[in-house]
Amino acid sequence: MKAVILAGGEGTRLRPLTLSVPKPVVPVVDRPFLRHQLDLLARASISEIVFSVAYQPERIQAVFGDGTALGRRIHYAVEETPLGTGGAVKNAERHLDETTVVFNGDVLTDVDLPAVVRAHRESGAKATLVLTPVPNPAAYGLVETDASGRVKSFIEKPSDPSQITTDTVNAGIYVLDTSTLALMPPGQNHSIERAFFPALLRRGDLVRAWVHRGYWIDIGTPEKYLQVHRDILQARFPVHLEGEPRNGGWAHSTARIDAGAELEGRFYVGPGCRIDAGAHVGPDAVLTAGVTVATGAWVRDSVVWEGSTLAESCRVDGSLLGARVHVGRHACLAPGAVLGEATVISDHSRTR
Ligand code: GTP
Repeated sequence: MKAVILAGGEGTRLRPLTLSVPKPVVPVVDRPFLRHQLDLLARASISEIVFSVAYQPERIQAVFGDGTALGRRIHYAVEETPLGTGGAVKNAERHLDETTVVFNGDVLTDVDLPAVVRAHRESGAKATLVLTPVPNPAAYGLVETDASGRVKSFIEKPSDPSQITTDTVNAGIYVLDTSTLALMPPGQNHSIERAFFPALLRRGDLVRAWVHRGYWIDIGTPEKYLQVHRDILQARFPVHLEGEPRNGGWAHSTARIDAGAELEGRFYVGPGCRIDAGAHVGPDAVLTAGVTVATGAWVRDSVVWEGSTLAESCRVDGSLLGARVHVGRHACLAPGAVLGEATVISDHSRTR
């Protein structure tokens, strides 16, 4: 059994962050996002994985290489033009064996993957889809099932409220009998949700659902990307972070934190960061690596990428800062700010 990770989208909703770092490798606390998925796949003993890539593939390859450093075998199926979620799996077919796990490359979850695979095999289904309950199902693809868990129909982002007959949505995780990929046209743009699964149903194949009621989030918007960090810091999604516990948060051993710095619970200060006396970090602040926070600066509920500097007495709240951003002295970033790589906010600027 092998896995395909769909990692070829442009991640437009996470721009400008994804202009320089493709969504599959944006840092999530202390590691590139897809490392979390590799960890989950390892729990199902899947160590051979195909990354299906189209957007900035060389940046993803630069992070993961052939997987040896992580004890995995990683292959790349590169699309010259994006082939959509189905065409991307088809494009990876030559690397696969009889059973394939497919993952959307922007989903963080603690789904019990070994149990899903077991259920798939025991049921004799051609495909098993993981579904998950969400508060606003209309924004997603709905999947209707009967009482036995057999999938009856798919409804894409319904506009008519009477069509919303379930709160569970497609979680972007599938187990497939690889032989079913014969249904997909090679080399053509094709949606796994809108074309491939409906085609399986039309053919009369058994498609089953597995409902996951644990943690699940897709990191595709700034709000959700920030939420994932809060969830990890608050242990709603447990991750063993690189570093040591300190003042209710985590700090890497190479971070230089002045004894006069104020650290307020639930934070992550990554390798090479420098926190000066009188700087205030937390709660819910993530400084991924090499970030400087100067005296009097205050950063909370935010994610700040590598090499950024927060100058004296600035305020950063509810914001996402790409790599090497500079926030000037006494500047103030209000919740919702998303700054691309190397943005310079001049002294005393404010976003509200
Ligand atoms: P937005 O532009 O913000 O909608 O993000 P996205 O481009 O990632 O699209 P979306 O969130 O709908 O994609 C879901 C998953 O499928 C993501 O992991 C994408 O990387 C992946 N994906 C989407 N389209 C393609 C494609 O054409 N090829 C490949 N290989 N993956 C894709």
